[in-house]
Amino acid sequence: MYALLVVSVINLSVGTSSTITEKYYEELIRQRTAEAESYNLPTTNNEFKPGVQSNTTHDYGSYDFVIVGAGSAGSVLATRLSETDSYKILLLEAGGEEDDFSQIPSMFHHLFFTKMNWGYFSTPQTTCCLGMKNRACAVPRGKVLGGSSAINAIMYVRGNRYDFDEWVELGNPGWSYEEVLPYFIKSENSQVDGDPGYHGKTGFWNVAYSSPASPFLSKFFNASLKMNQPVVDYNRRQQIGSGRLQFTIKRGKRQSTGKAFLDNARQRSNLEVKSNVLVTKVIIDKSKVAKGVEFVTKHKKFFVKAKKEVIVSAGVVNSPQLLMLSGIGPKDHLKALKIDVIEDLPVGMNLREHALFPGLVYNTNYTLSNRSTEEFVKEYLKGLGPYTRGAGADAIGFIHTGQGNRAPTIEYLFVPPTEIKSKIISKAFNYNDDLTNNFLNKLDPQRSILIYLALLHPKSRGRITLKSNDPLDFPYVNLNMFSEQEDIDAVIEGIEFIRNLFETDTFKKIDARLLEIPVCKELKKQYREYWECVIRHMTLTIYHPHGTTAMGPDKKTSVVDSDLNVHGIQKLRVVDAGVFPSSPSGHLNAPAVMVAEKIADIIKKIYRFS
Ligand SMILES: Cc1cc2nc3c(=O)[nH]c(=O)nc-3n(C[C@H](O)[C@H](O)[C@H](O)COP(=O)(O)OP(=O)(O)OC[C@H]3O[C@@H](n4cnc5c(N)ncnc54)[C@H](O)[C@@H]3O)c2cc1C
Ligand SMILES: *[C@@H]1O[C@H](CO)[C@@H](O)[C@H](O)[C@H]1NC(C)=O
Ligand SMILES: *[C@@H]1O[C@H](CO)[C@@H](O)[C@H](O)[C@H]1NC(C)=O
Ligand SMILES: *[C@@H]1O[C@H](CO)[C@@H](O)[C@H](O)[C@H]1NC(C)=O
Ligand SMILES: *[C@@H]1O[C@H](CO)[C@@H](O)[C@H](O)[C@H]1NC(C)=O
Repeated sequence: MYALLVVSVINLSVGTSSTITEKYYEELIRQRTAEAESYNLPTTNNEFKPGVQSNTTHDYGSYDFVIVGAGSAGSVLATRLSETDSYKILLLEAGGEEDDFSQIPSMFHHLFFTKMNWGYFSTPQTTCCLGMKNRACAVPRGKVLGGSSAINAIMYVRGNRYDFDEWVELGNPGWSYEEVLPYFIKSENSQVDGDPGYHGKTGFWNVAYSSPASPFLSKFFNASLKMNQPVVDYNRRQQIGSGRLQFTIKRGKRQSTGKAFLDNARQRSNLEVKSNVLVTKVIIDKSKVAKGVEFVTKHKKFFVKAKKEVIVSAGVVNSPQLLMLSGIGPKDHLKALKIDVIEDLPVGMNLREHALFPGLVYNTNYTLSNRSTEEFVKEYLKGLGPYTRGAGADAIGFIHTGQGNRAPTIEYLFVPPTEIKSKIISKAFNYNDDLTNNFLNKLDPQRSILIYLALLHPKSRGRITLKSNDPLDFPYVNLNMFSEQEDIDAVIEGIEFIRNLFETDTFKKIDARLLEIPVCKELKKQYREYWECVIRHMTLTIYHPHGTTAMGPDKKTSVVDSDLNVHGIQKLRVVDAGVFPSSPSGHLNAPAVMVAEKIADIIKKIYRFS
């Protein structure tokens, strides 16, 4: 009776309230996209300034666990640990809340230019990012509840079974594919027609297709088959092939770990979530035991005690920064910055990135109709349409180039005409005027197909270092992509594969033609030199840094052990994508969540009697 009444009331108001909602979203998108276009990123953490310099440290009490960072891993850890009523947990996050705009998947490039992004850029590069302003690639990192999962491109790509088996081969027991698969499944609430046995249907995290599929998708699969690439669920045991992309979305809206996990736990009385807080130091005593952390918020400085553990989940750039500021890192580097060395470890080293080459654009004579923001909003509110796609991609594929490696080496992302008109992409890529005007501005949202190629197992290594001992300074991010020639060779093989794919009669029938690349024209007659030059100019990253606090058995080459305890320090763990000891053949969000799920179980076991 009551339920019937509610339904009829909703029905009565449906006409007017849905129009109000549509108008609200149209205005929100108009205003926030304009703001992003003129937004200047910060270059320091000075918003926290007076607090950092404050002379009094206030006492913030004590908790069992203090978790630094509510990102992909931190949100999941806090959610799982707070399932145990007796643990008292404090989750500290530098950013604030997500909002209706950041929930729209297709706005992901715009989110780079909001306060939800820390705003890092790489240092000026010599082997990559040559076509970017200042030769610097953007290094976006989420600064918001949900962390990078709240600003990412929502693709759900776990990686290959061999990747995790390799973690064990590198000396990290417990991380084999058979052992981690249950944790991928535990998190997931899959809505896709994936392979049986590989997907969860009862987890917190919704995974779905963006619908409807682009009319170009069937053409892409058709051409893939002609290239001997079967159409697969790439999140299963056999990854090679092409597949429709699985997204972390729910009814078309972004499912960050903040929304999917933390929102289920925030009301628990044993969990305190504190946002707009910059953690500046882990306090470690003389016997090398982590005691708690110092943080600043609202211009005041605090110390909070951790009775059981401090868990650093500040991400691949900020976790190394925080460890180094706390005296854990390469001895010589810390000494040079007048930081007392507590433990000499290769923190910040071994930075790996999945380089992303966006240089293959094909224009076809198959043109989508010209549609308006109003139509996209109407569809979005039904959970459908181009606004529900992150970065515009609809499909993904994996190939194996080179020899010896068992996992795929190159990923390709298929971006059909996005329909959405926007200029933000050149700001997001940080391309110089030549590449902006003569390449990106030539993309036609109604008929251009864009292919992104990602290098899955880079040999090149970059590094995170401190600029100074001041937590208000941004750290340096030296990407150093393509410092190893093998990495160039793998991308060239990927380019050859895609060019052959577009030579199939499937694409010939719609007159697919490669858009001219404006750089390196003088080298056009020398095939390899030409593509190498193009790759070094145009390649950005897929925003997948990892490995800067890698796990392993040896203190010389790793920072944490296989349970993610910092070597040589007690009661201190690092749990985020920095701990990956080798590169997943996929994206990083799902593995970061998997790592947190697994460590939460390990921690619960250790403290089961206390
Ligand atoms: C633009 C972009 C697109 C991406 N696209 C995809 C994709 O489509 N699919 C995919 O799988 N992966 C994608 N990734 C990668 C993936 O999202 C990240 O690898 C993953 O979210 C990393 O999780 P994390 O827990 O390591 O760190 P994060 O999620 O970055 O969390 C770190 C958290 O710590 C907080 N923090 C840092 N320092 C401090 C401090 N000193 N005090 C307090 N809080 C602090 C940060 O604000 C942040 O919330 C993308 C990433 C980005 C940035
Ligand atoms: C801290 O103390 C120093 C020296 O006494 C003083 O110069 C400074 O202004 C103080 N800072 C604040 C924020 O009170
Ligand atoms: C691919 O497309 C062609 C027409 O373009 C069609 O004849 C063929 O059957 C398709 N193949 C598959 C496997 O869908
Ligand atoms: C699409 O429509 C907009 C107005 O809604 C117009 O400004 C634009 O020129 C049109 N583009 C094409 C290619 O027809
Ligand atoms: C597209 O190009 C193909 C191949 O050149 C041609 O057969 C077809 O008629 C063209 N279609 C349109 C709509 O122009």
